[in-house]
Amino acid sequence: MQELKGLILSGGRGTRLRPITHTSAKQLVPVANKPVLFYAIEAMAQAGIDDVGVIIAPETGDEIRAAAGDGSKFGVKLTYIVQDDPLGLAHAVLTAEPFLGQSPFVMYLGDNLLQGGIEDLLAAFQEHGPDALILLTPVPDPQNYGVAELSDGAVVKLVEKPAQPATDLALVGVYMFTAAVHAAARAIKPSARGELEITDAIQHLVDRGLRVEPHIVRGWWKDTGRLEDMLAANQLVLDTIVGHVEGELIDSQVDGRVVIEQGARLERSAVRGPAIIGAGARLINCYVGPYTAVGEGCTIENAEVEHSILLAGATVRDLDGRMEASLLGRNVKIGRDHRQPRAYRFLVGDNSEIGIL
Ligand code: G1P
Repeated sequence: MQELKGLILSGGRGTRLRPITHTSAKQLVPVANKPVLFYAIEAMAQAGIDDVGVIIAPETGDEIRAAAGDGSKFGVKLTYIVQDDPLGLAHAVLTAEPFLGQSPFVMYLGDNLLQGGIEDLLAAFQEHGPDALILLTPVPDPQNYGVAELSDGAVVKLVEKPAQPATDLALVGVYMFTAAVHAAARAIKPSARGELEITDAIQHLVDRGLRVEPHIVRGWWKDTGRLEDMLAANQLVLDTIVGHVEGELIDSQVDGRVVIEQGARLERSAVRGPAIIGAGARLINCYVGPYTAVGEGCTIENAEVEHSILLAGATVRDLDGRMEASLLGRNVKIGRDHRQPRAYRFLVGDNSEIGIL
């Protein structure tokens, strides 16, 4: 078999995560203070795949290049491939064809998180030699995903986001293909949402009698496309961290598994894990509760924050009520306004959401 390559899809518009994605790629939103995309690259590295293509969009590509670089910090070689328009996952495969050539490959959606890596799947793919291998997992809302029907353990039908799902088995955003997928991607027509769906390309393989092997995911899986999924992914990853304190604690206490990165400073504050406080963050007279990831250089003062993600440089000050289930973008400021007349004053971008007590 030819050497296995990797393909990570890191394009798309991220419309479900606006306003964060107005200014930043969704794949760079941090989960436990690390961009979602890095988990995919690390999974490739861990599985011994060192030749990895990364599909990027013209709008956010530079930011992704700057973050992931040439891949050497992960021990892989990254080749960036620009997809001019977000015309679907199968279109992304076609765009990557010159890079992929005849190699079999693992395709990993850059906003997906899969516990336990991809080594098992690779082993099954290499051992059983199917034309494609797909991952499935039962979900409560299959209408939001590609959905599979199985018969006697074989894939018989795949439908993208069906209004009336036949099963609750969602297609996870990690796939393994042989070069047969290229012809399938060329043969299909755009879906109702105007995209060449990978789901349809796989159905095409099935229709031609090629072997598509299903695998049910055992650990957890998250597509981080929406706020609630992002927070859930943050929770799942924080549940696996090992606590260590490198920053400075002044009249402060940490309970449970808490990471305090270098240069972070806590004064008269309490952090209850699992939680991570990024480098250079300042916590003053505050409480940070479980499942919170505080980014680099954030400030939290006279406030309580729980089950939230704060991107670098965000500030939260002087809140009466506890803040929770929130995602704050870079350098966002939330606080009390002491000017007269007493009033709420906002400067918020398009598609922002604010909930006040
Ligand atoms: C894509 C696929 C879908 C799959 C999902 C997994 O959906 O089209 O089949 O179940 O990823 O994350 P999208 O995120 O493009 O809506």
